[in-house]
Amino acid sequence: MSLYTALIRPLLFRLDEESAHEAAAAALALAGSLPGAQGLLRAAFAHADPSLETTVWGLRFPNPVGLAAGFDKDARLVGALPALGFGFVEVGTVTLEPQPGNPRPRLMRLPEARALLNRMGFNNAGAEAMAARLKGLGARAVPIGVNIGLNKDADPEDAPALYAKAFARLSLFGDYFVVNVSSPNTQGLRLLQDRLKLERILTAVSGYNGDKKPVLVKLAPDLEPEALEKLCVFAAEHASGVILTNTTVDPHLREAALEAGGRRREPRFQGGGLSGAPLRETALERVRAARAAVAGRVPIVGVGGISDAEDAWEMLSAGASLVQVYTALVYEGPGLPGAICRGLARRTVGAGLPRSGTQGPRAAAGGAR
Ligand SMILES: Cc1cc2nc3c(=O)[nH]c(=O)nc-3n(C[C@H](O)[C@H](O)[C@H](O)COP(=O)(O)O)c2cc1C
Repeated sequence: MSLYTALIRPLLFRLDEESAHEAAAAALALAGSLPGAQGLLRAAFAHADPSLETTVWGLRFPNPVGLAAGFDKDARLVGALPALGFGFVEVGTVTLEPQPGNPRPRLMRLPEARALLNRMGFNNAGAEAMAARLKGLGARAVPIGVNIGLNKDADPEDAPALYAKAFARLSLFGDYFVVNVSSPNTQGLRLLQDRLKLERILTAVSGYNGDKKPVLVKLAPDLEPEALEKLCVFAAEHASGVILTNTTVDPHLREAALEAGGRRREPRFQGGGLSGAPLRETALERVRAARAAVAGRVPIVGVGGISDAEDAWEMLSAGASLVQVYTALVYEGPGLPGAICRGLARRTVGAGLPRSGTQGPRAAAGGAR
């Protein structure tokens, strides 16, 4: 049992979910700003090991374990997060204009299922504020991804121009970018998971991508297998990679997760997307299907229910070149990325990381788009 699970988690879990997140974020932001604190965090949590280094899209990652989008929506924590041992950090989802997101409560713990349910609705300070923050950051310890979405009141017809404007504002400051069309909490967003619509978005974004930064597409786990396959084939030709998966709205997974804590009838548990352990099998399956569809042409980032080195190894073996975590960080605490890296390093001895994924040869030459 770690200090986090023995002492800190019980205190944080006394707070409502979002206040606990804010408390943890405030502590990390403070640590990121204090001279010497990052070194202390690194010594306490991170696990550096040359066998975990990997190069994807021509970018060097000290390890393949990243923080998924949604934890650091406004890029306030990019100073401290790498010191916990993350190999990369994806900030956002950021929208072109600032917006408050959905009313609270909008984040719920389901501890019995090791899951979270959220309907945050892209609460964020907007592209301009994020650009200013990332600009002031200076040298980065790890690659930073920027995940872009649509404002709640946006007309989906304007999606290509809106994604492109947000990208244009931020293109200098991210190492890779994500077109997020898979959050279940912005009405109509998932309808953009369509070949023609995505083609218009990616074409508009590429008009501002003179530096050929890698641009990925993040997809939902709830797509029908045929639709997923077609979108992955499309992404292999028109994007630099895919991220699988966002949260799920699968009613069976949701029912089972709510049932585990006897919460099925409570109104605040209605709606939103489910993440964490119940998503693990589905996410793995989607990554395997994506691997078959993209056939090594672009890298896949695997995310969903990863909570230890075994899960991460399985995701890498399924075809992911990189993995991400979010929900397990809430349950396991700041030692999680280091623990996953330590476990992965033990498994790589002599053999290296699973190489079933591709490292993005097209993107390494300057970005597929
Ligand atoms: C509270 C919360 C907020 C999230 N916000 C975003 C977001 O803004 N953009 C996004 O692409 N994914 C978002 N996600 C989804 C995660 O990035 C990830 O895809 C998903 O949670 C599955 O990973 P996990 O099981 O490790 O949490 C969010 C997840 C949670 C739990």
